[in-house]
Amino acid sequence: MGLATRLWSLLLHAALFILCVEQSSGRKTTIGSKKDIIIKDHAHSSSHGHHMTTMDDPSLNVFFTPNDLKIGNTIPIYFPEKNLSLSPRLLTKEDSDSIPFSLSEFPFLLDYFLFPKESPQAKAMEYTLKQCELEPIQGETRFCATTLESMLDFASDLFGPGVRFRILTTTPLKNSSALLQNYTVLGEPKEVFAPIMIGCHTMPYPYAVFYCHSQGKESKNKVFEVSLVGANGERVESAAVCHMDTSRWDRDHVSFHMLGVEPRSSPVCHFFPSDNLVWVPLTSSAV
Ligand SMILES: *[C@@H]1O[C@H](CO)[C@@H](O)[C@H](O)[C@H]1NC(C)=O
Ligand SMILES: *[C@@H]1O[C@H](CO)[C@@H](O)[C@H](O)[C@H]1NC(C)=O
Ligand SMILES: *[C@@H]1O[C@H](CO)[C@@H](O)[C@H](O)[C@H]1NC(C)=O
Repeated sequence: MGLATRLWSLLLHAALFILCVEQSSGRKTTIGSKKDIIIKDHAHSSSHGHHMTTMDDPSLNVFFTPNDLKIGNTIPIYFPEKNLSLSPRLLTKEDSDSIPFSLSEFPFLLDYFLFPKESPQAKAMEYTLKQCELEPIQGETRFCATTLESMLDFASDLFGPGVRFRILTTTPLKNSSALLQNYTVLGEPKEVFAPIMIGCHTMPYPYAVFYCHSQGKESKNKVFEVSLVGANGERVESAAVCHMDTSRWDRDHVSFHMLGVEPRSSPVCHFFPSDNLVWVPLTSSAV
């Protein structure tokens, strides 16, 4: 009961990704390239920008380096607001089975949801369907989940039989008047046991769609739980990941630029926004 109930309530909290955010990150990348989703989840994940370009798009303030994770250190971070009344609903398995989820069915889906062809909603749907049908990058497993069942199945397959797992999230903002602000690291960041991790990101769609991906055991990711306090007193318990191996990333990845680090040879970390789910194995011994 525990996991399913908790997951369900998390899913109910997942918000439709606001179209303007999608569009602003879309502008920076070429839709259709294999690297899109990486760029996109980083833009999704709130974070920090050291210099430059952050003025163009505050939501790109999600990146930091492992060296930034020190007690007392201050990092500017953008945590997007997640308003429950804008949240799309998760489908039941029955409904999911009855509605196609495929780019080839896009014209049918526009009719089904009554979205005009050129509407922002139509563009967002098309964007999501395209992202969900991109080939994974080398070593990656990816999947778009439209139901709780399919997300659990994806996680079980990746972790392997009998492995229990848990979900990390970032707590939602209580005060949404400062989405971008300086946060101070409150306690020693806690590295989480994560030989395999799965990141699931909400996608803009009329119902809840999670784009989930994992590098499997090949990943050189470190997962952290970080307690933060904002300049306005906002307390956030955040989930963050450090990608220690960025050698296969696009040289032009926005994070390299924002952090001012050498492309493909520097680790890049980012915070997750509160509607993302980070799945990690649960060990019997506390880590
Ligand atoms: C959430 O969004 C709705 C519709 O835009 C708005 O009426 C409401 O005030 C918002 N709630 C919060 C807590 O921001
Ligand atoms: C919310 O944050 C703003 C500025 O970031 C601050 O002025 C305001 O006092 C905060 N509200 C509460 C209830 O903490
Ligand atoms: C964060 O603090 C730095 C140094 O005080 C300041 O220059 C910067 O404007 C602050 N950023 C935000 C988003 O408040």
